[in-house]
Amino acid sequence: MTHKRTTIVCRVNGKNYESEVEGRLLLSDYLRHDLGLTGTHVGCEHGVCGACTVLLDGAAVRSCLMLAVQAHGSEVTTVESLAAPGEPLDALQEAFRTEHGLQCGFCTAGILMSLTALRREQERPASDDITAVIGGHLCRCTGYRNIRRAAQKALLK
Ligand code: FES
Ligand code: FES
Repeated sequence: MTHKRTTIVCRVNGKNYESEVEGRLLLSDYLRHDLGLTGTHVGCEHGVCGACTVLLDGAAVRSCLMLAVQAHGSEVTTVESLAAPGEPLDALQEAFRTEHGLQCGFCTAGILMSLTALRREQERPASDDITAVIGGHLCRCTGYRNIRRAAQKALLK
């Protein structure tokens, strides 16, 4: 059986893409497999863990719950946008590094993107806002204390 394919046009990390995709292709799979942006991780595939979080027109979304065709005409931002290879780390990434906010790193990209959305939305987020954002992500390694400390270091003014 052949599946109907649709042409989508979107902008990902500042670059324009025109792709032919199956209607059922997930946005997470489009980013990882079609565009090679494997920084976005896929854990639960059910919208629970947050590992696959990216920004869609500036808002944090779970890319495992979205279809690639839903990104048509939109701007997608992934963790790769935070720092190019060889370039200085983004302030959030640097804080996660210095505060040991990651161990295996599987959850990290998603958390960084949710915190990036918070940073865009609020110039001066409160500590509770940061905690609420982190609460939407599952980490099996760190116990969250270091993640919280890193986020606070980067975002609290
Ligand atoms: S992989 Fe998308 S929320 Fe877990
Ligand atoms: S650092 Fe391993 S799951 Fe979060």
